[in-house]
Amino acid sequence: MFVMSTQPIQIQPMSQPVDIGDEVASFSVEIEREIDWHLAKYPVMRSAILPLMFIVQRERGYLDPPGVAYLARRLNLRITDIWEVATFYSMLHTKPVGKHHIQICKTLSCKIMGEPGITEHVCTRLGIKPGETTSDGKFTLSLVECLGSCGTAPMFQIGFDYHENLTTEKVDQILDSLT
Ligand code: FES
Repeated sequence: MFVMSTQPIQIQPMSQPVDIGDEVASFSVEIEREIDWHLAKYPVMRSAILPLMFIVQRERGYLDPPGVAYLARRLNLRITDIWEVATFYSMLHTKPVGKHHIQICKTLSCKIMGEPGITEHVCTRLGIKPGETTSDGKFTLSLVECLGSCGTAPMFQIGFDYHENLTTEKVDQILDSLT
């Protein structure tokens, strides 16, 4: 016989509170206007979270603590709400990244089609491991999950650009073209 429990259930919060200090970023009148324009597009303010995050990241290089505090204030959200989104998407950065952020897809199709060799080649060429940035600040290398381009594996993303059907020769050409 099924007996319903009367024990209270402890629901753990999804994420821990994030302490980011007291500083809040400020932006020029033009940037504030751009942010207002995005906010005006949505009936629910938090829907503007991604466009605003990309603006803050573009202006500050990454989502630094004052930038996160600014987003929380403008969107009327908790710091934790901002942090959950910021740490979910691989295109958002909560740490400084190099001028060119190389994100190599490490998921199944890319792995089968040669990702390990591509990663090894990039590491050797740049002298860094995944998660690291070159000493001149030019390149950051990350391994990420599927970028939705499985039919043209192996592939990586640099900034907003996809580079597909990679070979080591093609990787060299791409890296040589980046200033
Ligand atoms: S597995 Fe690499 S893009 Fe999907």
